Amino acid sequence: MKIGIAYDVVRDEERQIVEAIRKRGHELVPFYVPSMVVKVNDSSQEKLDRLDFAFERCVSFYRALSSAALLEGKGIEVVNGYEVIRDCGDKLVTTIRLSSRGVPVPKTFVAFSRQKVIEAARELGYPVVVKPIFGSWGRMMARALSEDDLLDIVDFRESMPSPYFRVHYLQEFVNKPGRDIRSFYVWGEVPVAIYRYSTRWKTNTALGGKAEPAELSEELLDLTIKAAEAIGGGILGVDLLESSDGRVYVSEVNAVIEFRNTVRVSGIDLAGIMVDKTIEQIRR
Ligand SMILES: Nc1ncnc2c1ncn2[C@@H]1O[C@H](COP(=O)(O)OP(=O)(O)O)[C@@H](O)[C@H]1O
Ligand SMILES: [Mg+2]
Repeated sequence: MKIGIAYDVVRDEERQIVEAIRKRGHELVPFYVPSMVVKVNDSSQEKLDRLDFAFERCVSFYRALSSAALLEGKGIEVVNGYEVIRDCGDKLVTTIRLSSRGVPVPKTFVAFSRQKVIEAARELGYPVVVKPIFGSWGRMMARALSEDDLLDIVDFRESMPSPYFRVHYLQEFVNKPGRDIRSFYVWGEVPVAIYRYSTRWKTNTALGGKAEPAELSEELLDLTIKAAEAIGGGILGVDLLESSDGRVYVSEVNAVIEFRNTVRVSGIDLAGIMVDKTIEQIRR
């Protein structure tokens, strides 16, 4: 097969995917997106010809989104595709998609002004988590233990230049057991999951959360699959929060997955699985 990979930064993940493609004897076509020019209404771009599919691996959200759209515009199947990247990139849309398909999500309120945020939080009950609708690695996400905290957070957000920060996404704080779960979905299956332990409430490994292998119950495997399918499938990373009342919520879904720590602690060749399962899917 002729397999493309659109990327901007080469992380361990990209190296592992490239190695998996090469080891299986497929032809690799790299697209270094920062140096690309895509001629939108010109069909003479040979490099894009006859690709069987392409992996979308850009770290930058807008680069991932746009390069996926461009490749799809050239008739190439992209994994994950534009719509999945778009919906996962926006936490508000993800939450709507999940909840409308019956996937449990933490109680979430959205407000558009300082006054309404305060009213919403009173109803939600403290602590509350305030998330930017775009972003990852726990960045710009804050927890308010009190109304005083929340006012500080909202004042920061209201003074940010980007209008996105004035969309205030508030969520009940799920009292999880010092960890969350990152569960990986690959075309209908859940090949691996990890716990992310941290002394901080944000357990992202990018912030120092410690990865440990997790054996998921049948119920959590099903929950992962249900969440991924609500988003549109493909290859996804589903974040799960275990509540002290025994319920498990989906906090978000990631469309360009990072997995070096998962591979390190589990020994599972996730890149190989991604390549094999995607080829299987494309050949159908
Ligand atoms: N409602 C919540 N209650 C408790 N912890 C949360 C909640 N939402 C997020 N977290 C913690 O913050 C981390 C980052 O949140 P997440 O929604 O996954 O955004 P990001 O895209 O930044 O990873 C999660 O891994 C989890 O540890
Ligand atoms: Mg996350």
